[in-house]
Amino acid sequence: MSISRDSSGTLRLAGVSLSEVTAVTGTPAYAYDLGAMAAGARSLKDAFDGRPHLVAYALKANTAGAVVRAFAAEGCGADVVSGAELLVALACGIAPDHVVYNGVAKLDGEIDQALSTGPRGIGAILIESVEEIPRIEARALAAGRVARVGVRLNPSLDLVGATHAHIATGHDRAKFGVPRADAARAVELVEASPRLELVGMTAHVGSHFTTAQPYVDSARVLFGLVQSLRTAGRARSLRFVDTGGGFGVDYRGGEGSEGASAVPQPADFVRAARAAQQEFGLDDLALYVEPGRCLVAPHGVLLARVIQTKVTATGRWLMIDAGMNDLLRPALYQAHHRIVALEGAVDPATAIPWRVVGPVCESSDDFGEHMLPREPPSQVAILDGGAYGFTMASEYNGRQLPVEAFLRDGRILGQTRRAAVASWVEERVRAGER
Ligand SMILES: Cc1ncc(COP(=O)(O)O)c(C=O)c1O
Repeated sequence: MSISRDSSGTLRLAGVSLSEVTAVTGTPAYAYDLGAMAAGARSLKDAFDGRPHLVAYALKANTAGAVVRAFAAEGCGADVVSGAELLVALACGIAPDHVVYNGVAKLDGEIDQALSTGPRGIGAILIESVEEIPRIEARALAAGRVARVGVRLNPSLDLVGATHAHIATGHDRAKFGVPRADAARAVELVEASPRLELVGMTAHVGSHFTTAQPYVDSARVLFGLVQSLRTAGRARSLRFVDTGGGFGVDYRGGEGSEGASAVPQPADFVRAARAAQQEFGLDDLALYVEPGRCLVAPHGVLLARVIQTKVTATGRWLMIDAGMNDLLRPALYQAHHRIVALEGAVDPATAIPWRVVGPVCESSDDFGEHMLPREPPSQVAILDGGAYGFTMASEYNGRQLPVEAFLRDGRILGQTRRAAVASWVEERVRAGER
């Protein structure tokens, strides 16, 4: 985490005063430390000890060009889930061979796009159902190409309590992946097609695991399947196994029940998956991982201005100009993000609990209770906002999307523009006009 408070009490990210950032960007605004993101990717790659691998950064966590370019410069690939994300990945310098494409309902046009990219199409289109196989086959035939594909296995693991139900993807009731019972048939159908080449077997069991065990359990189901296919003389064309993303981060900064040291580092997930890969005798295959959150969440903050307070007999609210449209995670997953003042460290002896809420007209527009000074700060930072923040932002309530600022080594490298309210109003008024 590259956030710190200097001796005068000013909060800094990447060495830049966040008050200086808001003076330039206004609020609400995300700020990201690109150097820390790049360093995180490097240390994750080091965990492979030089073995063949791909860190396929999951763009859904943060699609900002500067962020994706930082990962491309570190040799990362990309995990994309739409044609638009694929275009961003390619435009930011990620080679087509280093892209994997997940998605339960890819459009024909998106499959065509994946097939027509580069000399051989992207690295792998990941198949999530038996029904998808003839669709990809037909598009490959139309394109006159052989599609490199992977089969995404649903490992069928009920991980109740291991993560939030909304982000558990590898259980029997989830729409994701090919069920275990259908996996051998899916591989057979792929291998029988002259238009498809099986290059990978993958699984992604869910997001934000704060222990490595569910990840390893899922990897072992995947590796067991690959091992049994190979024993039966199948899956000879495989080049990689992909254990997905889901490496958790410590949103409580060591203050919560998780405890900072209890949440494994991203490299720990990789080492655990590597050990299992060896155990199953699959060391000849490259190991792919698809991390999103862990690479970006800790290195981004959402900056907001305090609009006013409201104190009644029943409550004490601190109302800020960032809302659930800017950062949806608390409303969607009951997620906790720490909130701190931009100027002045909080003195625990005098801090009082404030319920921090946004301006959106929903009761769930609520960032939870936070210990802040009785005399509230004028600006606050919502920490660990680099993942699933801007990418989930919306214009609900006629609000503008937040600005994003990109910091590195003590400098603001650039920022996005805030859309004009007038153009939104004009668009809405015109809607339905002939
Ligand atoms: C298939 C797939 N891969 C990777 C990820 C990234 O997960 P995370 O951001 O938790 O690392 C996701 C997120 O849901 C996903 O669905």
